[in-house]
Amino acid sequence: MTLDSSSFPSDFVWGAATASYQIEGAAHEDGRGESVWDRFCATPGKVRGGDTGDVACDFYHRYPEDVGLMKELGLDAFRFSIAWPRVLPQGRGAVNQAGLDFYDRLVDELLAHQIEPFATLFHWDLPQALEDEGGMRVRSTAEAYVEYTEAVVARLGDRVQHWITHNEPWVYAWIGNAWGWHAPGRTSEADAVAVAHHLLLSHGWAVQAIRRLSPDARVGITLNLTHVYPATETPEDEAAAYQRDGESNRWFLDPLFRGSYPADLLERNELVAPLVLDGDLETISAPLDLLGVNNYSRFIVEAGPDGPRTVSNPGAEHTDMGWEVYPDGLHDVLVRVARDYEPAAIYITENGAAFPDVRVHDGGVHDVERTAYLQTYIAAVGRAIAADAPVKGYFVWSLLDNFEWAFGYSKRFGIVYIDFPTLERVPKDSFYWYRDLIASGRGAPRPSPIAAA
Ligand code: FCB
Repeated sequence: MTLDSSSFPSDFVWGAATASYQIEGAAHEDGRGESVWDRFCATPGKVRGGDTGDVACDFYHRYPEDVGLMKELGLDAFRFSIAWPRVLPQGRGAVNQAGLDFYDRLVDELLAHQIEPFATLFHWDLPQALEDEGGMRVRSTAEAYVEYTEAVVARLGDRVQHWITHNEPWVYAWIGNAWGWHAPGRTSEADAVAVAHHLLLSHGWAVQAIRRLSPDARVGITLNLTHVYPATETPEDEAAAYQRDGESNRWFLDPLFRGSYPADLLERNELVAPLVLDGDLETISAPLDLLGVNNYSRFIVEAGPDGPRTVSNPGAEHTDMGWEVYPDGLHDVLVRVARDYEPAAIYITENGAAFPDVRVHDGGVHDVERTAYLQTYIAAVGRAIAADAPVKGYFVWSLLDNFEWAFGYSKRFGIVYIDFPTLERVPKDSFYWYRDLIASGRGAPRPSPIAAA
């Protein structure tokens, strides 16, 4: 199948995404404080192979080379996250200017290459000092997040015009606090529910702070949204699918876009309502300029004895994460979100696939499966746009192979291969495919539409 980006709107933003802890390394440099992920990695048995983000891709030092790769790709935009413990090593209080200097240099380097920065303020690396005081379980951490946001926007807001407050609050809340597979490694449903509410609340407060300090900025939040399909058309499976949709998608979409938690959720989960104080939902539902959608796969759900149960589709292709390749799931979730919530703009802030890449005798990495995955998913985005979903951009996850959380370096999502022992960068075949896709819509080389604006 050939795909041509000229069928996308001419101002469509082509990007790539990363996150601070997964790529930066330099964990002990320039006054950076400890994050919950440093602590989690240092806890035996938590991360595969004992891997840590201490060095990661060494992006902290090698970013000029990586921005060069972005330029070669022809990217319009780069999504990265800012490490809170670099900026406020204790989570609040004294600002570490040396930490901010790094992002200052990065933003300048991007803009010098006409690449628009999309900055995520929280991609899970909470300062450990705040975790020790109750983490996102307590409202005071949401207040500290506003302090952090103000410090970052005061420094970068003259150049960064796209802000994403949080990345995937569901994952941070549940995988980190109810299941214990991610930092901070807690295993309490009540904690997860409190973390989810305080992430939403801190988002709302941060939106106000960003708009105050940088009135022209465009602000949003990134959710992991996965379309849910009932295993059969029985009422039981339909109800199970609806419940799962409530737990993973509507839990966040409803407060953000409707100013209320879903009624069926409040009925089933008595932990939510007591957390909500007067004014919280009004704050959380302030209008947004954009919604970030991260999507990789879909859920098929049936009614099990203890509630909704995910079933697999053994006949389908799966990635190295065990996630089903199902591009229609991205189309369906985009069309559904556009219809039910009417966001002003949607950006796919992450989409991509892990496969067990190898570098072969010719020196290349021939990642046929990833290339096919990206083709079919990007085509699905095109179909969603044709069905009136307001999708304005697409960021591949990820630019670089990186630290995949509890899986350490064992899962490769990059379109650039990293030889971790030497940190050499090797563009994979999917990199060249993506470069050619971006170029195909451009005819003659042109400046980035948003950077030029
Ligand atoms: C998402 C995360 C991102 C990366 C991808 C594979 O949940 O936001 O950091 O790990 O999954």
